[in-house]
Amino acid sequence: MTHRELFERACAARENAYAPYSGFRVGACILTQDGSTFSGCNFENASYGATICAERCAASCAVAAGQRRFMAIAIAGNSAAWPCGICRQVLREFACGPEMPVIVGAAGGEFTVRTLEELLPESFGPEYLLGEAKEPKNSKTNGGK
Ligand code: THU
Repeated sequence: MTHRELFERACAARENAYAPYSGFRVGACILTQDGSTFSGCNFENASYGATICAERCAASCAVAAGQRRFMAIAIAGNSAAWPCGICRQVLREFACGPEMPVIVGAAGGEFTVRTLEELLPESFGPEYLLGEAKEPKNSKTNGGK
């Protein structure tokens, strides 16, 4: 699956976006470890805070299908739409690693690729709670305490 193919699936998913309030339509598509893809779109709500972003919609579908290792995500918006903070953290939970590509562009146009770590540096993830966390490299600058 190329970045272009994943991005085209995100563009297709955007067709189902429900965004009557903002008019900002977003589609996302996640590639999982077994080679499957899971698409999502944003869906807004009259109670605005209940809105779900396209990225979390796609992530929900992947997890519900038993997929917990994300290899890449593509996101297509009216214009290039970088994932919001909540979505970055949700992706962090299931990302294959800090190098996971995040592919972002305007639907039907060109895209840009960043790693998840570029979008969410110094992040908190499951290893902190599952006993796999390493000491930060600069922990000595604090007297090691
Ligand atoms: N939106 C997403 O779907 N993903 C993002 O990462 C940013 C924002 C949606 C939510 C809302 O429906 C609309 O864009 C405007 O905020």
